[in-house]
Order: sequence, then structure tokens, then C-alpha cells
Amino acid sequence: MIVASAPAKIILFGEHFVVYGEPAIVLAIDKRARASAELRTDKRIYINSVDLGLSGSFMEEQFQPELGGEEARTKLEPIKIATQKVLHFSKKQVGVSIEVESSIPVAAGLGSSAAVAAAVVVAVSRLLDAKLSKEEVFRFAYEAECFVHGTPSGIDPTISTYGGVLLFQRDRGFKSLNVEGDIPLVVGDTGMERSTGEQVAIVRERRKHFPSIIDHVIKTGREVALKAAKALETGDLNALGELMNINHALLCAVGASNEPLERLVYAARKTGALGAKLTGAGGGGCMVALCLPEKLEKVAEAIKRAGGTTFIARKSSEGAKIES
Ligand code: PMV
Repeated sequence: MIVASAPAKIILFGEHFVVYGEPAIVLAIDKRARASAELRTDKRIYINSVDLGLSGSFMEEQFQPELGGEEARTKLEPIKIATQKVLHFSKKQVGVSIEVESSIPVAAGLGSSAAVAAAVVVAVSRLLDAKLSKEEVFRFAYEAECFVHGTPSGIDPTISTYGGVLLFQRDRGFKSLNVEGDIPLVVGDTGMERSTGEQVAIVRERRKHFPSIIDHVIKTGREVALKAAKALETGDLNALGELMNINHALLCAVGASNEPLERLVYAARKTGALGAKLTGAGGGGCMVALCLPEKLEKVAEAIKRAGGTTFIARKSSEGAKIES
């Protein structure tokens, strides 16, 4: 049996604007999805998602649910796509059993589906002895992600594949940022699941109604991300926090925030966070606060009191990999 894992992510700057070609900053964190893969004696792709309590097997386009009925089919489909891509690449006609476990909250802006897809691609490719480049791992995970989100920018499968801290730009690739110091972050989860596709559609609609205004907001997002890249490389946490607050205001302007997120963002700021913003698609899901290390616990407490669940996130340089 082969086990692989891939990291969750936090978008620090530029979510949504990245869909329109502007740069975003994303970091991999120390929460991972794990996938194990085993050969089968038949030609089926069997998938068990332990955390979602869903399982079943695919034979070509036929699906046989085991746990979770028809819902299982939709939720497990991206994992099947990722597996099929590797099977096709390897030219082997075998069946595979996959088990997925993840400590990443689902539909919360932390890139859980991309982390699962990247872990599955790496586990299955090792199982089938298919030598994939990182670029191929990214591409197969991206294709699985397209089933979940329609036309994603590719930021999530990129960070899950490569890890680290990246300045990412759609259709242009990414640059690794050289961040030496710690970036002390508290993540607050509103507990509201939402669809990235729907959130992206909300922003698209607003841009349709007010193109000249929203295009300015998007361009300002670019300036914020580029200044933030410099602040990260020089370790200027105060500037970084202020830029996060500005970025959050821009995300409000395009329609990505909501009341539960605002409550958590303001609770964090009031307790002394250097900056706080929603992260990912918004409309629920998670926010993130940057704090001096000695304030992390206090800010986490305040976010909890405002209705969120929290964890302290650490940056991780490790992308998708085989577990030893
Ligand atoms: O799926 P999430 O919540 O991690 O958000 C992805 C970031 C967006 O910019 C909103 C969409 C995208 O494809 O980049």
C-alpha cells in the first residue's frame, strides 16, 4: 500500500482577483490530506472517504455506492478523475482502491479538494510506477479540481503540489517567495460551507453591473499583492497586517464577505491582530488573522467567542509527497 499526502493552503492576498489574471500570494500550511492506494484484483476504482463517510466504486462511468448513496457519486467523482488521469498516463489496465483521510475543513477556503486530489495523484502514480513530474501532478490535480469549481485559477492545486509560499499568477505560473521568518496566523472558521463556484459567480455579476468600478478594485488588489510580496520577504509583519486589512476591504467591495466573516475579522482586530481578512472564496468558510506570536492565543479566544472554531496555522515548505 502506498500513502501520500498534500497540504492545505491559506490565500494571504489576491483571492478572486487571481481569477482575472492578477497575482495572489498563497502559503501551504501544516494541515494535510492523506491518500492511500492499493491494487485490486478487478478493474474497479474503489474510493473510501473516511471523513465524509462516503464510499463506492466506479467501473467506467457506472457508480455503485456503498456508503452515502448518490451524494457519494458527486463528492467522489474528482478523486475518480484524478485516479483515471494517472491510470491513463501509466497505460496500465488495473483496478485501484483509494482511501482518503483529511484534517482540512471542507468547503471552507483552505483548499481541501485540491489537497486530496494532489495526494491521490502522487499515491496512485507511485503505485503504478508512473514517473510524474511536479507539473504533471499539478495538471492532473487541476483537472480533478475543474469538476468541483468549473474554471478555477489553479492556485489551489499549485500550492498543494509545490508547497512553500508562492506568488501565483494565472496562465503565468508562480514564483517562490523567500520567506525566512515565521508568519504567525490564526485561522477562524465560520462553519458555513459554501461553493467556490457560486462565490466566483457573485463577483462576476458585480463586475458585469459596474465594470469600471470593479476593474479598479481588481487592479488595486494587484498593487496590494505585489507590496505584500515585498513585506513578506523583508519580514515586515506590520505592513503585512495593514495590507491584509486593505485586501479584506477590497474583497468586501466585490461582494465576497458576509456577516459571520465580518464578526470574526473584527473580533481578531479588536484583540490586537496586526491584520485580518477572509481567505479563499468567502461567503462563509474561513478568515485568517496575522498576530505577534504572544497574541496568537488571545486572538484565537476572541474568534471563538465571536462564533468561530480556530486553529493556529504554520507555514509548510512541503508540497505533495510520499509518506515515509
Ligand atoms: O476554493 P477556495 O475557497 O480555496 O477559493 C479559491 C480562490 C478563488 O480565487 C476564489 C477562486 C480561484 O479559482 O482562484
